[in-house]
Amino acid sequence: MRMYDIIMKKRNGGELTTEEINFFIDGYTKGEIPDYQVSALMMAIYFRKMTEAETSALTMAMAHSGDMLDLSEIAGCKVDKHSTGGVGDKTSLALTPMVAACGIPVAKMSGRGLGHTGGTIDKLESFQGFHTSLSREQFIQNVNAIGIAIMGQTADLAPADKKLYALRDVTATVDNMSLIASSIMSKKLAAGADAIVLDVKTGSGAFMKAKEDAFALAREMVQIGKNAGRKTIAVVSDMDQPLGNAVGNALEVKEAIDTLKGNGPADFVELCLTLGAQMLLAGGKAEDENTARAMLQETITNGSALEKFASFVTAQGGDSEAVYDTSLLPKASIIEPIPSACEGYIQSIACDEIGICSLILGGGRETKESAIDLSVGLVLCKKVGDYVKVGEPLAHIHANDRRKLEAAKDRFYAAYTISEKKPEEIPFIKGIVE
Ligand code: URA
Repeated sequence: MRMYDIIMKKRNGGELTTEEINFFIDGYTKGEIPDYQVSALMMAIYFRKMTEAETSALTMAMAHSGDMLDLSEIAGCKVDKHSTGGVGDKTSLALTPMVAACGIPVAKMSGRGLGHTGGTIDKLESFQGFHTSLSREQFIQNVNAIGIAIMGQTADLAPADKKLYALRDVTATVDNMSLIASSIMSKKLAAGADAIVLDVKTGSGAFMKAKEDAFALAREMVQIGKNAGRKTIAVVSDMDQPLGNAVGNALEVKEAIDTLKGNGPADFVELCLTLGAQMLLAGGKAEDENTARAMLQETITNGSALEKFASFVTAQGGDSEAVYDTSLLPKASIIEPIPSACEGYIQSIACDEIGICSLILGGGRETKESAIDLSVGLVLCKKVGDYVKVGEPLAHIHANDRRKLEAAKDRFYAAYTISEKKPEEIPFIKGIVE
């Protein structure tokens, strides 16, 4: 078999066989096929697309390019959750203790933030001493004892995807549905859960800006999961404005804790209940959605989710005092309101721009190696549909550097559109794909 023939077949619109896909993934992972040939193939796939069978074969080849985690030592149905990424997306922080308190074991691999989107591990490092460098044995032991453990993505998990994603990033071949679906699902399948609940975002802060594209991606990933014998469900949710009010690492941790104490913003609570209900149904812990939502709500009312979260933070070396007293979380030295310059209804918020404001303040990573400031970010006071008067704060900005604060403020103003007309209400949950 020759890589040249595989490139030409796809360039001419042919369907690759599983053997051909295995050949190029295996050769690329081992360093036997050069970047320039794989770049050419990625571009051919970008234009010619892939069939369902090709996408499934690519996913399985990438999943098997490294370790396939075996979680059989953890009792019960392991349900993983994955978000396609967004601004202010602190869902895993609140959702995992809620579902763990309902008896679903959470054995999760999480990532760090890059660019304008945040990562769960960075956020958790707001707790002094918190770490994710657990041995496999410790990871499993923590899940069995507490119900939750979170590890960083190891180099041995889907290494083919790691290489391919880096290549796609610099060859303008990221935004192809089959390539995104296989990239995400290869990591999820390798991570070993029995069932997978996906949160596919749509809107200005998401990969898939158009709703139809988000549904197509959701359907593609659900099909891949099913073909691999894993129960897979996707929720399509709004990312046309930041999720909740807080954007920035420690600020998001505080909002997640407030949510576990019963004081969460409505959109964020709704997302946790919707995703959590699907996780309980997939894990066989509830008969129907209403029962599942009531069970999740009860973990907030009776404090069991908050306790679960504190035990998890302690088990991974973190200072859980901050769970009960959030004033102990990292704090910025400057906190200032951003007053509105005009009166009217908030028409729209350019979501990715708010993520970039947090990045400018130092809360995000420009490159994988950049250090981040956990304390900075924004807390929105006004969201789409709210009315604002001149001088009323649109948000509070948390900064440690006045020059960065001014730069972020200019960008923040440009992200808000305010007008006299009340905007139409748009549903936050767009639908569920099973
Ligand atoms: N996230 C991934 O892991 N892969 C993609 O291709 C896009 C988003």
